[in-house]
Amino acid sequence: MKQLSSNMVPRLVLLLPLLFLLFSVSSADFGSDVEYLFGEHRMKLSKDGQQVDLTLDQYSGSGFQSKESVLFGKFDIRIKLVPGNSAGTVATFYLNSTGGEWHDELDFEFLGHVNGSQYIIQTNVFTKGVGNREQRIRLWFDPTADFHKYSILWNPYQIIFYVDDIPIDYFKARRDGIPYPNQQAMTLYGTIWDGSSWATEYGNIKLNMSHAPFIVSYRDYDVDACAWTGYDSITYCSNPNAAWKTHKITILEKEMLAHIHRNYIFYDYCTSDTSKYNPAECASGLIQ
Ligand SMILES: *[C@@H]1O[C@H](CO)[C@@H](O)[C@H](O)[C@H]1NC(C)=O
Ligand SMILES: *[C@@H]1O[C@H](CO)[C@@H](O)[C@H](O)[C@H]1NC(C)=O
Ligand SMILES: *[C@@H]1O[C@H](CO)[C@@H](O)[C@H](O)[C@H]1NC(C)=O
Repeated sequence: MKQLSSNMVPRLVLLLPLLFLLFSVSSADFGSDVEYLFGEHRMKLSKDGQQVDLTLDQYSGSGFQSKESVLFGKFDIRIKLVPGNSAGTVATFYLNSTGGEWHDELDFEFLGHVNGSQYIIQTNVFTKGVGNREQRIRLWFDPTADFHKYSILWNPYQIIFYVDDIPIDYFKARRDGIPYPNQQAMTLYGTIWDGSSWATEYGNIKLNMSHAPFIVSYRDYDVDACAWTGYDSITYCSNPNAAWKTHKITILEKEMLAHIHRNYIFYDYCTSDTSKYNPAECASGLIQ
């Protein structure tokens, strides 16, 4: 940035689009953008950098994480879940805050099943350390038969989780005191681990190691996000100058979400569990 001498500073505003290019993360390659998190050789990167396979065996699960931390973005990954009997496994694709004062987290958790077509997706949103916003959905396809696209859109207005571009969960930024993740960076993660204690039929069906290794495949990493470079990013990353940043849930998306609620969501913290019912968030309906 040294070339911006002080007499050029007034022109900074004109340069904002350029700065955005400098500070944005726009990538489509696991090879250059993610690194090993745990599980040693159980994380396998394809030669062309387009696919990562994660294995869970009797000794360990495995995982990767993005090298960059970001504030807001659109995160697309195509995933083929563990085929065959995957009961007890939990595969994930999530964003978690990196070392801030409190913990924000946006989760996709794929809960294995004896029968692949009965896989369950759990989504959750943590803001300022508080989660308890689980939603569980049954899918309209067998997610073990092929790759499907799973996306998180996180911008100053809302968080939307999508499956094959269909919104399945929505969390709106509000002004009534409910915290929204907009003050700190997050890192992207993919993992697989043993969730026998709770994942399948509330823990009644455990991991059966005679079906190991359990392998989940991630492809076509496609991230468009605002790179975190320090506290200046809070203002900078909130400036609407990219399609994913300005997107607000559309009427069509609300209709699709309502359809998903009626037909595929079988657990929602707002309607299924009185102990998690939060009047401020839930009273105005699921799709505010
Ligand atoms: C996210 O990070 C917090 C610490 O900031 C940690 O307690 C939590 O377990 C992490 N979540 C996951 C799913 O790794
Ligand atoms: C798996 O689930 C699907 C859909 O729920 C069902 O049609 C199929 O018969 C099941 N297969 C087995 C082997 O249970
Ligand atoms: C584990 O799977 C094997 C092979 O399908 C089966 O024979 C065995 O009964 C299973 N064990 C349990 C505890 O379900």
